[in-house]
Amino acid sequence: MKTQSKTGTIEQESLESVFKTELTEVYFAQQRLGKAYERMAEAAHDEELKKVFENQVHNTSLQIGRLEKCMEMLELKADAAYAEVVSGLIKASDRIISEFNEGSVRDTALIATAQKIEHYGISAYGTLRTFATLMGRVQCAALLEENKDEEAETDEALTRIAMSINQAAHEQA
Ligand SMILES: [Fe+2]
Repeated sequence: MKTQSKTGTIEQESLESVFKTELTEVYFAQQRLGKAYERMAEAAHDEELKKVFENQVHNTSLQIGRLEKCMEMLELKADAAYAEVVSGLIKASDRIISEFNEGSVRDTALIATAQKIEHYGISAYGTLRTFATLMGRVQCAALLEENKDEEAETDEALTRIAMSINQAAHEQA
């Protein structure tokens, strides 16, 4: 089967075309998430959580750099048609910031959303890494693996921090 892209060119359906869609999607997602994590860092009450969110602003730009390297190697151009995928999660984090007062309860809600965001990254990068390996793009696969590991580390850090924050939020009630 063939699909018509936004630019009007006909693309053969293939693993490469799915790879390109997924890569573009996560590329735009990370661009938006950088800004979202800046707002989350500002809103976080717990200092350790604030640091994790600030670190995400930095990680996000590293990940974008690796994705751009990958796109360059594969001569791919990002297609803005796939920019909306994580906007629901970003809206959810902005709503938490505006509706809750600063404190442990808001922190727990921000952690819950951040973990969904990180799981999205683990899944997207995992698929892309596997596809790149199949396509024989070893360097690209290594860059995507690095991004996936970064997402997994963040998820683990959030789980660890959540233990004390959840307890504090529970006791606050
Ligand atoms: Fe991340």
